[in-house]
Amino acid sequence: MASQDRVIIFDTTLRDGEQALPQSLSERQKLQIALALEELGVDVIEAGFPVSSQGDFESVQLIARTLKHAVPCGLSRAVIKDIDVAAQALKAAEHFRIHTFIATSSIHVKDKLRKTFDDVLAMGVAAVKQARKYTDDVEFSCEDAGRTPIDQLCRMIEEAIKAGATTINIPDTVGYTVPTEFGGIITQVMNRVPNVDKAVISVHCHNDLGMATANSLTAVQMGARQIECCVNGLGERAGNCSLEEVAMAIKLRSKILGGVETGIIAKNIARTSALVSKICHEPVPSHKAIVGSNAFSHSSGIHQDGVLKNRETYEILTPESVGFSGNTMLMTARSGRHMIRECLRKLGYADDEYDLNDIYARFLKLADRKGQVFDYDLESLIFFTKLDEED
Ligand code: KIV
Ligand code: ZN
Repeated sequence: MASQDRVIIFDTTLRDGEQALPQSLSERQKLQIALALEELGVDVIEAGFPVSSQGDFESVQLIARTLKHAVPCGLSRAVIKDIDVAAQALKAAEHFRIHTFIATSSIHVKDKLRKTFDDVLAMGVAAVKQARKYTDDVEFSCEDAGRTPIDQLCRMIEEAIKAGATTINIPDTVGYTVPTEFGGIITQVMNRVPNVDKAVISVHCHNDLGMATANSLTAVQMGARQIECCVNGLGERAGNCSLEEVAMAIKLRSKILGGVETGIIAKNIARTSALVSKICHEPVPSHKAIVGSNAFSHSSGIHQDGVLKNRETYEILTPESVGFSGNTMLMTARSGRHMIRECLRKLGYADDEYDLNDIYARFLKLADRKGQVFDYDLESLIFFTKLDEED
């Protein structure tokens, strides 16, 4: 088992993320993403759902054959055939994980599966035992755990651990819980399930209420040691917990989160995000934390002035630390004199080549008309000001 301080990053971009794309990915595209995830330092890569289609089977097989450090994983329902097929797809890897799941909430058990909780309990146990025939790395998920009565959840987890599950995943499948509530579920599991220390407790949070990152981090504070997530927060509906957000939150706020760390190589985040966005045809929202184009951009004059004096006034992490070339300062009517002088210096103009008050007054007029002002606009301002002076 991993060190107590290490949070395992389980990436499901190629499974939960891919299943929510309007267009599925080719085998080569999936391999390219899997290799980028490995370079990013992801520990476990959920490469697909092998029984779902021949294409998915072959992609999982190719990824399992190719990965060198990350552990390949395949999803399966708690159905014997699914598990056998997943094992077939994964067997080329020296070490692989089978991830099997069944729903445990009353609404899913009754209305979706049309079974009783005892049926589900028996299916979950049988699935874990079947998966253990192929590998000693078996993950079991209680789908819709966030809405599962706690007694049932603890009972299912206890039986899954007894059957040999080495990771127990607690999904907030519909992104319904809030952090105190989700943290409470993890605490109850930690305190009530016998032999809970024989398995790694994992969380898989969806973002329907925008809580996925907060819920995952709260779970870590309560003892969870695996987070399931997707690059750029892709995934069903509003997506899964975003990999870059939890990785950077843990890096930056490790102490308050209990001294934990991940193996994510932060400087590879920007390029992995761009690759996934491009291959999946899913643009990254500009205000997306960590990887959005606006995430390291400063607009207001007060902010720009602060950043020019000390970046830490408005930057809690540097863009360089996640692989971007630097921050951006938008030149707008909110920008101050100090900022315009800095931009002119970067463009090669000495301070005594122009009158700052004059240029700034002209800049404000232009910015009011135009919105954003660019470097070439500044160059024109200098040029036309010089012409005016010569007249
Ligand atoms: O959201 C969910 O519950 C899942 C499971 C298959 C883990 O994706
Ligand atoms: Zn999910």
